[in-house]
Amino acid sequence: MLVHEHDPYNAEPPLGALAGEPVTSADTFYSRNHGPVPEVDPATWRLRVDGLVERELELTLEDLRAGFAERTLPATLQCAGNRRAGLVAVRDIPGEDPWRGGATSTATWTGVALADVLAAAGLREGAEHVCFSAPDVSQVADPPQPYGGSVPVAKATSPEVLLAWGMNGEPLPRVHGAPVRVVVPGWIGARSVKWLTGITVTAEPSDNYFQATAYRVLPPEADPRAAGPGDGISLGPAALSCELLDPADGSPVPCGRAVLTGYAYAGQDRAVARVDVSTDGGATWAQAEVDAPDGPWTWQHWRLRTDLAPGDVDVVARAWDSTGALQPEHAADLWNPKGYGNTSWARARLAVAPPAP
Ligand code: MTE
Repeated sequence: MLVHEHDPYNAEPPLGALAGEPVTSADTFYSRNHGPVPEVDPATWRLRVDGLVERELELTLEDLRAGFAERTLPATLQCAGNRRAGLVAVRDIPGEDPWRGGATSTATWTGVALADVLAAAGLREGAEHVCFSAPDVSQVADPPQPYGGSVPVAKATSPEVLLAWGMNGEPLPRVHGAPVRVVVPGWIGARSVKWLTGITVTAEPSDNYFQATAYRVLPPEADPRAAGPGDGISLGPAALSCELLDPADGSPVPCGRAVLTGYAYAGQDRAVARVDVSTDGGATWAQAEVDAPDGPWTWQHWRLRTDLAPGDVDVVARAWDSTGALQPEHAADLWNPKGYGNTSWARARLAVAPPAP
């Protein structure tokens, strides 16, 4: 793993480790933490459901497992800071890790539908948002506070949003949120709250720092240290993105037949419709083969079989989604002070070796 920080632990896999793998193994899956990873005892763990509900609930793990239908679905998680390195290359972003394109991974999650738990609690009139709370206290927040976030009721009651205890057929690992985490497919990873202990139904979005102040796109001239609750554009559904996974940027490759591979991901309500790949810096384009997704909530892997001539080869990849939208071309147009949402075209330079004498 490429470890950005040990404490809190923030790490992503090398891009090649994601290549050609529709499902990411738990130890390759990126880890994004804003505070220390808590150790939660599953035997004493409780989930409290309160706020604008008819009946407050306090559920054990056994209550969740026995009381609700088990569901399993594959879903991609992508951090809003994925590919921040491309924004840092435009202009420095102090205090934020320069994630490459590995802050995107896909697992098969098992748990229960949040919708079923909310139905058991019963939503009262005025219920608009569902807030999640966790015990890990982040010193990054101002003031320091436990991690949290929220999603609107319409998303929270959609069948794909899970309270998950399983990952790829195994118990959820501690670093990924054991015993139970939220999985919000199609939305930025920040809303998939780990080590979940509380669900509060409210009229307004969560006032937690990571909902109200962070994970918001500020205008380029804003001072992020002066940003307060409600400033900037709140991120929710994931934006269309694409990355070249193999060969790696800067790597030497032999001339002749080559296979360029990567992922593309379209969030909520969209699918990847086409991936164009250029091997001449964007002057001409070929269409990659795009794999069907494993379901409505996953990335799609793509590949282009091509011939590479000796010399420096500038590879560019760009995705279109099912609404006909194309990714933005330049990271510079997307630069923002906290470095979120670098969904610009993927670029890599390959050093293609001449044929052996
Ligand atoms: N949940 C808690 N409790 N604490 C966190 O720091 N990080 C969020 C989200 N849930 C976070 C959290 C962010 S920003 C992302 S991208 C995903 O978890 C990452 O999940 P992973 O570490 O399992 O990949």
